[in-house]
Amino acid sequence: MKKEEVFESYKENIMPTYKKVPLVFTKGKGSRLWDIHNNVYLDFFPGWGAGNLGHCHPKVMAAVREQISKLIFIPNNYYHIPQARLAKEIVYWSFPSKVFFCNSGAEANEAAIKLARKFGDGRYEIITFDDSFHGRTLAALSATGQKKYQSGFEPLVAGFKTVKFNDLEAVKSALTDKTVAVMLELIQGEGGVNVAKRDFVLGLRKICDEKKLLLIVDEVQTGIGRTGKLFCYQHYGITPDIMTLAKALGAGLPIGCMVVKKDIADTLTPGMHASTFGGGPVICKAAQAVLRSVKKEKLLANAQKMGEYLLLLLAALKDRYEIIEEVRGIGLMAGVELNIEGKAIVEKCMQNGLLINCTHDKVLRLMPALNVTKKEIDKAIAILNRILGDAPQGDTLQRFSGKNA
Ligand SMILES: Cc1ncc(COP(=O)(O)O)c(C=O)c1O
Repeated sequence: MKKEEVFESYKENIMPTYKKVPLVFTKGKGSRLWDIHNNVYLDFFPGWGAGNLGHCHPKVMAAVREQISKLIFIPNNYYHIPQARLAKEIVYWSFPSKVFFCNSGAEANEAAIKLARKFGDGRYEIITFDDSFHGRTLAALSATGQKKYQSGFEPLVAGFKTVKFNDLEAVKSALTDKTVAVMLELIQGEGGVNVAKRDFVLGLRKICDEKKLLLIVDEVQTGIGRTGKLFCYQHYGITPDIMTLAKALGAGLPIGCMVVKKDIADTLTPGMHASTFGGGPVICKAAQAVLRSVKKEKLLANAQKMGEYLLLLLAALKDRYEIIEEVRGIGLMAGVELNIEGKAIVEKCMQNGLLINCTHDKVLRLMPALNVTKKEIDKAIAILNRILGDAPQGDTLQRFSGKNA
């Protein structure tokens, strides 16, 4: 197919639910992607958070090939070894728990919401946060603290109370005798790379312990080494009651996982929740290869080191350009808040061979693979520097945004 034919097929046959970038990719390796014309791009937002190992990691490819030649699928009323092994590894690397496998982040959060309601035995309210993002299925969407995603889909699922992020008093005021859980991302990804404060998280843990609430931590984006630890909660010295995972656990293949503290893990009993494809043999083999590669290739250490380097270089850009308001993040989850819209900058980066993301209109999001090199970071920053240098600054910006008009 030629590029134009691909665009035409999408236009005619695929529902227009995504804003599309006019690129057709055919090949990927590590932090690089090749388009249909063989142009190469440096991917600093691989797989929308699913690409922590970069593209086509050899260990994942080998694991998939091996499993696919033996047994592609077996439903969840039978046993198979890849699921048994993967569950054991996730539990080993996280906290004493049991897991439930599904296929996406939204599904993992749905499972957590259902478990919380069952656990609540009449208590059903879940406190979530402004600017959070928990997925597009109806309950996950109802948990999401961003009206722009919910608009048009009302009535939403009842029982969610959204309060200000990083504000413990707001949480306390929202508590009722019906509250059963608090659900949050420790770094809000879609919401603009907003980092939860330590005292806030410790305070949440304390409230949950005192009131017998479940602390649900959505690690769909922060999990699997993104922040330099395998799970982001490990930065805070707390243990969640439920952790949800997806994205990078599958290295690009669909997986979701709910990890539930052992003493409440039997809340859901046979017949209460299910997923046909959840935890199939192929994806479980792939996810095992992901976890092993993160450990064997010392990717957590690399994410910490390269993350510090990336944030340092971004901070230097902030000193140089007035349009940068703030640089924030942990490990290789970096946000650059601008005082102008970021869309044009992302487009120019793309035209110059660098793929990044803009979220919340004004926050550039850089989440390179955990095996990114210093050289690749230097190259990305050089491109970004050039583009930011061309963007309107100071007086020009004021005229540009009409403030002096
Ligand atoms: C924190 C968080 N939770 C949940 C989701 C939903 O995941 P999925 O798209 O796999 O359903 C996302 C997706 O971006 C996310 O970032």
